[in-house]
Amino acid sequence: MTDTTVASAPTARPQVREIGIIMNGVSGRMGYRQHLVRSILAIRDQGGIEMPDGSKVTVKPILVGRSEAKLAELAAKHDIEDYTTDLDAALADPRWEIYADFLVTKARATALRKAIAAGKTIYTEKPTAESVEESLELAQLAREAGVKTGVVHDKLYLPGLQKLKRLIDSGFFGRILSVRGEFGYWVFEGDWQPAQRPSWNYRAEDGGGIIVDMFPHWNYVLENLFGKVETVYAQASTHIPTRWDENDEPYTATAEDAAYGIFELAGGAVAQINSSWTVRVNRDELVEFHVDGTHGSAVVGLFGAKIQHRNATPKPVWNPDLADSHNYDDDWAEVPTNDVFQNGFRQQWEEFLTSYVEGTAYEFDLLAGARGVMLAEAGLQSSRAGRKVELAELNLD
Ligand SMILES: NC(=O)c1ccc[n+]([C@@H]2O[C@H](COP(=O)([O-])OP(=O)(O)OC[C@H]3O[C@@H](n4cnc5c(N)ncnc54)[C@H](O)[C@@H]3O)[C@@H](O)[C@H]2O)c1
Repeated sequence: MTDTTVASAPTARPQVREIGIIMNGVSGRMGYRQHLVRSILAIRDQGGIEMPDGSKVTVKPILVGRSEAKLAELAAKHDIEDYTTDLDAALADPRWEIYADFLVTKARATALRKAIAAGKTIYTEKPTAESVEESLELAQLAREAGVKTGVVHDKLYLPGLQKLKRLIDSGFFGRILSVRGEFGYWVFEGDWQPAQRPSWNYRAEDGGGIIVDMFPHWNYVLENLFGKVETVYAQASTHIPTRWDENDEPYTATAEDAAYGIFELAGGAVAQINSSWTVRVNRDELVEFHVDGTHGSAVVGLFGAKIQHRNATPKPVWNPDLADSHNYDDDWAEVPTNDVFQNGFRQQWEEFLTSYVEGTAYEFDLLAGARGVMLAEAGLQSSRAGRKVELAELNLD
């Protein structure tokens, strides 16, 4: 009799490693929507992420905040076991390996210092601190403590900017000459319609201001796509002097609500970026970058990207006496998506977790964060002095 049973090798079950993450500031806009719901819970609910060796990493959050009632409500809503108002206790507990910070900017440095001292791996929103000095000190402390750090660079993961990166890498532009960025929308004053951003954004004493908020983003976008920022000239303006807060109380806006910046980049390109909460949108998306190169140009937004090659460039002739019937929009071609782009915050979380588990170098660290803070500080200094400011090379000792 022939034995027909085939001996099958025991299938190795993928090894699963669970990583505990302290999430501080989850009741806030960014903490809740982008980091908790769209990133960490999305990763948890899909059963984790796969590492290059086939093993799996899953995540377990503990919610940290000041209001126990709010935390309890969020925990119940999202089936989260752990929450606490005692940050120190969470930091002392070895179950939690990563400390993630989404607090208001002003509260960040103190919390990061504690987390670094506790030996936790750090993942944080930008800006990492309110001054270059403090942001560098944090980077230095992390290096001395030997802890890995990551700073949110979400705009690089926008589908439009990923398409732009693809265009740059393909050599489409030839030599890039200039970048014009337009970011912003109308943020209501808060009297006859509630404001759609927190009131602290408009108070300098509370860490507000569009330069501190947006220049850290422009720094990593420019340095990763076009070249390191070498100089900045910025004009900060507070166009709306009085706003109404969350309790319908009027307050004086002490921080700028618009910034008009010019950035000289390594390699010779010039970037000009307007950032404003006091403009009404007349473009396809809330942020757009128009890039001109010797061989082609592109206009990219959050999602879209359109291009015009030198061979498809019309030859306008200036004549103010004749209405121009040429439709300039028709000269642009849409760049296809050709890829699956997931939420950028989640994409970066997945990359950071992978780098943490694999022990690889992570370039978007606290030093990169400090360069963003430096650009914001230099922008404010430029506006006060009315002159161009050169940016120093930041290094850790
Ligand atoms: N990456 C991005 O695109 C992006 C966008 C907006 C904001 N941010 C950054 O994210 C951070 C949070 O911004 P937000 O818009 O979510 O603000 P938010 O006001 O909605 O939330 C702030 C959080 O901090 C907590 N908090 C407030 N004051 C505190 C204090 N004194 N001590 C401890 N906790 C305190 C709040 O309870 C809340 O959980 C800021 O640093 C901001 O610069 C990043």
